[in-house]
This record gives sequence, structure tokens and C-alpha cells, in this order.
Amino acid sequence: MPPYPSPRTRKVSVTVEKAARTAPAVIVAIDGPSGTGKSSTSKAVAAQLGLSYLDTGAQYRAITWWMVSNGIDVADPSAIAAVAEKPEIVSGTDPSAPTITVDGTDVGGPIRTQEVTSKVSAVSAVPEVRARITELQRSLAASAVYGIVVEGRDIGTTVLPDADLKIFLTASPEARAARRSGELKGADVNATREALIKRDAADSSRKTSPLAKADDAVEVDTSDLTLQQVIECVVTLVEEKRAAK
Ligand code: DC
Repeated sequence: MPPYPSPRTRKVSVTVEKAARTAPAVIVAIDGPSGTGKSSTSKAVAAQLGLSYLDTGAQYRAITWWMVSNGIDVADPSAIAAVAEKPEIVSGTDPSAPTITVDGTDVGGPIRTQEVTSKVSAVSAVPEVRARITELQRSLAASAVYGIVVEGRDIGTTVLPDADLKIFLTASPEARAARRSGELKGADVNATREALIKRDAADSSRKTSPLAKADDAVEVDTSDLTLQQVIECVVTLVEEKRAAK
């Protein structure tokens, strides 16, 4: 990597910044189950439009990591609720280099382990955890001067019900499992498919703000689309909303 952006990169990013500064701030909620291309799409759309980016799944993973690291029994919702306020979770919202720390420790790697992935649904179902993380998400969205793309499961329904644009990404279980096992570098597709279905069922059936499509969300089925096509589709929808503001 060169130490400075090339003149072309610099020109493009200056143009993006200028466009974001002159356009009204826009709040975009992108929800859907895992493996639908949510993170890649959200980051690329935010970068392309000069917006901030927030991965809310990373926040739930971070609090889960803290629970596991501190020996909290994740099968006991009251034990989780009792300490839900303790960890300090900080999200960096630059789409080209999103970060997440817990009590000052970079947990970008540890939150992606199998152990955290298998426990995050139980921790994120606890109402005290959701209240805490939802408050963090709303304050980050409110402080994003040029606007923000927030990705998750309950953003359009609960966290930001007044978002300017709500997108709900879907894909067939087969497409999602194939993508996820590619990301996990060769993991067994069938095992990945079963794990995804199990996690979706838990995320969709919990009592507090389950994974759900908002009534006013635009549904995009990504099964047969390339990532670039999904990004273009969402960028067009955001630009239309901005033009109408
Ligand atoms: O997007 P992800 O796979 O990193 O999300 C991890 C878990 O976090 C997911 O299984 C459910 C939970 N989650 C949630 O409950 N609400 C959100 N807004 C985002 C994620």
C-alpha cells in the first residue's frame, strides 16, 4: 500500500466528501439474516456515498465476547442482564476501516470466533442487552453529520423507525450458506447452512425486537445478484431518497 492515496484516489474521495457535504444527511437501515451480503453492501454503499457505517451485529458480538471472557453463564438471562451495563463498547464508523473495542481492547478478530457466533443469539435476546446496545446505536446515528448506513436485524423496525430508507436483504438458504462458507475459507457448506438456519430461527423468534422486515422496507432478494449489482441497486435507492429530501 502506498503511504499516500494516489492522485486518482484522492480526487475520488474529495469528490465523495464534497457530494456528502452538499447533500442532506441520510439515514439508511439495512436489515436481513446473515449471508445475504449485508455487511459488504452496507460498507460499500457508505463508502461510495461518503456516509458513516455501523455494524450492529459486531456490537452484539462484542458484548457476547465480554460475557464469555468474564465467565458469565450465557444460558442464564438474569446473569447477563445483571452485567449488561458493564462493558464499554466503542464502534469506529469509517466504512473503509470499521473498528470495535471493548474496554479499550480491539476485538475485531475475537468476535468472529465460532464460540462467540454460537452464543451471540442467546446474549442478544436479553432485553437489558438490547436496550443498552440500541441506545448506543441511536446516539451514533444521531451524531453522523453526513448520514449513516446502519446494518442489523431490527434497525428499520425498532432502532431507527424513522430512517429515510429501509432495505431488507434476503437470499435463499443455499446462496447464504455458500457465501458464508466461502468467507470462512472452505467450511462445510451443509454444516454452515444448518448453523445459519438455527441462528436465524433464534434471532427471528426472540420476544424483544426479532429479526423482521419493516412494513415500509424495500425487499431485495440477492440470491441471483452479484455484490456489485446489489450495491448499485441500494446506491440508486439512496440517491433517489436524497433527491426527494
Ligand atoms: O450480523 P452478525 O451475524 O454479525 O450478527 C450477530 C448476531 O447479533 C445475530 O445472530 C443476531 C444479533 N443481532 C441482533 O440481534 N440485532 C442486530 N441489530 C444485529 C445483530
